[in-house]
Amino acid sequence: MIVVTGATGNVGRALVDRLLAAGQPVRALTRDPRRAALPASADVVPFRADDPDALFGGATKLFLYAQACSAPLLEAARAHGVRHVVLLSSGVIQEGADETHPIHVMHATAERQIHDSGLAWTFLRPNAFATNALQWAPQIRAGDTVRGVYAGGLSAPIHEDDIAAVAERVLLDDGHEGAVHRLTGPEAISNADQVAAIGRALGRQLTFVETDPAEAAPELFPYVPPQMLERLMQSFAATVGVPPEITGTVEKVTGAPARTFARWAHDHTADFRTP
Ligand SMILES: NC(=O)c1ccc[n+]([C@@H]2O[C@H](COP(=O)([O-])OP(=O)(O)OC[C@H]3O[C@@H](n4cnc5c(N)ncnc54)[C@H](OP(=O)(O)O)[C@@H]3O)[C@@H](O)[C@H]2O)c1
Repeated sequence: MIVVTGATGNVGRALVDRLLAAGQPVRALTRDPRRAALPASADVVPFRADDPDALFGGATKLFLYAQACSAPLLEAARAHGVRHVVLLSSGVIQEGADETHPIHVMHATAERQIHDSGLAWTFLRPNAFATNALQWAPQIRAGDTVRGVYAGGLSAPIHEDDIAAVAERVLLDDGHEGAVHRLTGPEAISNADQVAAIGRALGRQLTFVETDPAEAAPELFPYVPPQMLERLMQSFAATVGVPPEITGTVEKVTGAPARTFARWAHDHTADFRTP
């Protein structure tokens, strides 16, 4: 049995589908099973941070989101026979990183707890997700102009199903214990060009209008806590005109090349169309 936390998330949901398709028994954890809309063939179980013993009966492997990680959870996993934990960490963890950045702190804390747990581990450290482009979906559904920050900010966005494909191989194959996999998409693209690519996938011409981050950020990123917003904007500012890291790890691990942003946009046209 493989336990998947974040099973309703972009990556976790794709991983649940892949593991079920591969004939693996999956326990999918969510804080709200009634709203989860997970496949009937998954064992959908409420995530209980205060009662981790309820989660791991019969399990041998765990796919973990940093948000769900804690020392008691890892201890319960180990006590019930889990041997290998695969963490969805972050590419922010690297040489020379700002270790006080809240995103760094969250993922580094989870990595440390896992190191200390005595479980075998694999850390997936993806950089920017292509799903970050969903920040523009409400504007694209409403019209052809997209107000955003840092038009020239560069990234190599990764398709969520490519992260899930790597996680699937790491969970099902031998030889990934103790490995750190840095994951990116196949090519650099600017924010303005991402919006243009979404337009092409929709058959529309979209225009990116750069706005002042200090003014626009609270409205554009309503789910980001105010104390993190300024740091997030600083991280985005640092990407302007700077070529991003591009790794070949998706292809190395899965045998298939990482999908382009254009492909991601094509796969997600429904998210940008008015229902
Ligand atoms: N966006 C990026 O560019 C980027 C880059 C590198 C790493 N990451 C990391 O990747 C993760 C986001 O992945 P995603 O896009 O697949 O996720 P997502 O779609 O935002 O969904 C978040 C998932 O995490 C679960 N979750 C949230 N808080 C939780 C908590 N306190 N306890 C247990 N479960 C919790 C949610 O489960 P429920 O069903 O219970 O709501 C949901 O399934 C984050 O850890 C993020 O830091 C993101």
